[in-house]
Amino acid sequence: MGANGGSGSGGWAGPALVVDDQERGLFLVHRSVFTDTGILAMERERIFDRCWLYAGHESEIPKAGDFVTRRVAGRPVIVTRGRDGKVRALLNTCTHRGALVRREARRNAKTHQCFYHGWSFTPEGEVNGIPGEDAYSEAFDRGERRLREPPGGTASYRDFIFVNFNPENEVSLEDYLWDAKEYLGCIADQSAGRMEVLQGSQPFGMRCNHKLHVENSTDGYHALVAHKRYFDWLAGAGAMDVSAGLRFSPKALGNGHAIIGRSVAPFGRPMAQWIPYFGEERKPHFEEMYRKAVERLGEERAHQVCTCGGILFIFPNLIINDIISTTVRTFYPIEPGYMEVTAWCLGPEEEEAPERAVRLDGFVTFNSPGGFVNPDDTEALESCQRGFEAAKEVEYSDVSRGMKRLLQGGEDELEMRVFWRQWARLMREAGPASTHTGTDA
Ligand SMILES: [Fe+2]
Repeated sequence: MGANGGSGSGGWAGPALVVDDQERGLFLVHRSVFTDTGILAMERERIFDRCWLYAGHESEIPKAGDFVTRRVAGRPVIVTRGRDGKVRALLNTCTHRGALVRREARRNAKTHQCFYHGWSFTPEGEVNGIPGEDAYSEAFDRGERRLREPPGGTASYRDFIFVNFNPENEVSLEDYLWDAKEYLGCIADQSAGRMEVLQGSQPFGMRCNHKLHVENSTDGYHALVAHKRYFDWLAGAGAMDVSAGLRFSPKALGNGHAIIGRSVAPFGRPMAQWIPYFGEERKPHFEEMYRKAVERLGEERAHQVCTCGGILFIFPNLIINDIISTTVRTFYPIEPGYMEVTAWCLGPEEEEAPERAVRLDGFVTFNSPGGFVNPDDTEALESCQRGFEAAKEVEYSDVSRGMKRLLQGGEDELEMRVFWRQWARLMREAGPASTHTGTDA
């Protein structure tokens, strides 16, 4: 027997939340984890306020004074580049009386002025000006009124910006990401310069628990069943051949992160993997891109970067879907049965117009809220959430598929068990959010 969420000081007093019976090959998740407000409150504290969380991409703020506003772990945040070139996250709440200091989605600014009483701050968060400052006593300290930063730190890896809200955090971002670094690198290396977040985003909501979205995103088992319409359409358009199945292979990356990887070959990808769908006339350009990638990265790495894709999950709430387009998606629970999601499209800055068009088309038609795939998933996940209303009679969900197999395939739910084990550990134990154990699956 292994993890459960049922002990520890101030913990959950109910039944085992995760039953991990490795001897018998049984893995069960108690359905209250999807519906209980007390468990959600614990998750906010023990998971979201403890782990490194994705906040943005450096390409969104290339110049000093550039900023984007986000909600990260339920907090309003300004992600910005200071005049020193450094990326910072500033909590977007005026230290005077609380108003949002920045209300735009993005801009460039020399100062941030609060619209309520006119206090202003520098791009680095220091107090810049206070109307009628002489009215304050000697006890008033400008330094104490600077815009606050996430106490556990702000750091980037290959342009992906993360923040940490744990005041006691001692885990570096690199240690936290562990083996996921290699796959973030595979995405970053698709550009000779920089990968950039393309204009626009997809903010939407789903009436289900956020952990259902985690399970679903790396779930190879459901793909050909729930998304039959999409694969039929792709086959009809000559965009892919799924007759041999999807052949995903799952890999645990440590600290709850996982990937289900695959060759992008049946799908193709705007970066270097040509299929007839892209048009005969673009074939020489793809050969040229591949040749340049080999020059830049060497044969082995170029092959990996150009022809291997996958769906990368970084615990607890980042999913990078790198198959047809490259979609970066993060989410946060508002209630046990409701989550907010935002997705962005990522592409090489040097990409030419025809491939960029295919990428954006893939971003919209593949996994967007108005595309072929996400509505199927939303319907499935919202129906699970409704099914949990019968949790008194049907207490547990089964995540055991393939558990006793020596070599687990992409339909075997390994990556879900990787997620749930880390989830149960963090819910149960205090201490760092990284176990440094690498790929214990
Ligand atoms: Fe799906």
